Amino acid sequence: MRGSSTRQAAKAAAVTERWDALPKLEVSTKRMLSARIYASEATVEAQHFDILRTKLLLEMRRNDWCRIAITSATPGCGKTTTACNLIAGLGRQPEIRGMLFDLDFRRPAVSKFFGVTPTASLEDVMNEKVAFEDQALRLHDNTLVSMTTRSVADPARVILKSQTADLLDRVQHDYQPDLMLFDMPPVLVSDETRGFLKLVDAVVIVAGAGSSSVAQIDEVEREVAQYTNVAGVVLNKCRFMEDNYGYSY
Ligand SMILES: Nc1ncnc2c1ncn2[C@@H]1O[C@H](COP(=O)(O)OP(=O)(O)OP(=O)(O)O)[C@@H](O)[C@H]1O
Ligand SMILES: [Mg+2]
Repeated sequence: MRGSSTRQAAKAAAVTERWDALPKLEVSTKRMLSARIYASEATVEAQHFDILRTKLLLEMRRNDWCRIAITSATPGCGKTTTACNLIAGLGRQPEIRGMLFDLDFRRPAVSKFFGVTPTASLEDVMNEKVAFEDQALRLHDNTLVSMTTRSVADPARVILKSQTADLLDRVQHDYQPDLMLFDMPPVLVSDETRGFLKLVDAVVIVAGAGSSSVAQIDEVEREVAQYTNVAGVVLNKCRFMEDNYGYSY
């Protein structure tokens, strides 16, 4: 009994050591606010993201989910904004470990949102040119971001390799995250999103008010449901709420 608890403590310490060893991503609050990343601090603007984060975490715990993809029907709905706010908001929940992967190899934007250009791209990790531990950056003690620095000509060729599943399994095993978030291209314009969905537990669909039609959102829900669970639909850019940055879930 004692031996097993000692082993568990040693394992937990090794996980913490791996997190601590990651280089820090230095981002200014001003930079984040200019990219509409509000959730680092408990402000009025962060409230909608906080609600989304809490609902998502409850749903994840209830269903034993860890890997969540963020997608949409059409471009520009707010997927990256949502993903960055979710990971920024987790910085205020130190007991939960979260990771954000920029898997939108067509229009990678997470690094632009944070205003940094890492030396290595997630594509390099997936092509086994760089180790994950040399590429991912720690945003807070409990969150990390794995960014994509350039668009990739044939994303499906990189993302849908059989090694991708092994990479995710290894990262999940070594870092023991509660949440792995994947910022993906829109389902309706990207085959790699469809192919990747079998590796995630659930999907959050971001709908842009005024830019995604109900028929398109239905189509995405049906499509996603063929491969995995639909965690929910986020209505973004909704002008009918009290402010202009409204998110509902
Ligand atoms: N609630 C909002 N209110 C106002 N502007 C918003 C809101 N959400 C996102 N935006 C803005 O809309 C633009 C598109 O957002 P974002 O890049 O997050 O969308 P996306 O779905 O990731 O786009 P893409 O399909 O290109 O990856 C950005 O300029 C972002 O700042
Ligand atoms: Mg995006």
